Amino acid sequence: MKKLSILSQMLVCTGLAFAGFTVQAQEVKGNAAAGNGKVWLCVGCHSIPEYRADYPLVYRVPMLGGQNAAYIASALSEYKKGNRKHPTMRAIAASLSDQDMADIGEYYAAQTASSPNNPLK
Ligand code: HEC
Repeated sequence: MKKLSILSQMLVCTGLAFAGFTVQAQEVKGNAAAGNGKVWLCVGCHSIPEYRADYPLVYRVPMLGGQNAAYIASALSEYKKGNRKHPTMRAIAASLSDQDMADIGEYYAAQTASSPNNPLK
């Protein structure tokens, strides 16, 4: 009987730990389809090969298609926090939630480097 109760306590603990992990993972799990509806702001700069934005200096805009999802989400969060300084990207990232960043990351990770969702093609 004693053994059984230890076992059931262990099961409860494992269950709780697993539930906690699931909730945590859901918070930041990106969804590419959801991201598709959130990149309308980005395509004007990031989907145009060789595009250069000229404020405050001339910047070459990096292509995001095929980039690692976690890298994109963490870059966006660094703009939001101010660890990355580019003013336009900071303003844009400020409006994004962690969920938006994860969704956008998954969206771009599922694209290819050559012309993701390019409205001009
Ligand atoms: C006005 C043009 C413009 C728009 C609009 C724009 N970006 Fe950017 N983005 C840039 C430029 C320029 C850089 C490079 C800045 C730097 O050097 O930090 C950049 C950098 C990035 C980076 C870092 C890439 C890397 O390789 O480190 C990510 C991620 C990013 N943008 C995502 C987005 C997302 C997502 C959106 C839309 C929600 C967006 N950007 C909208 C111009 C833009």
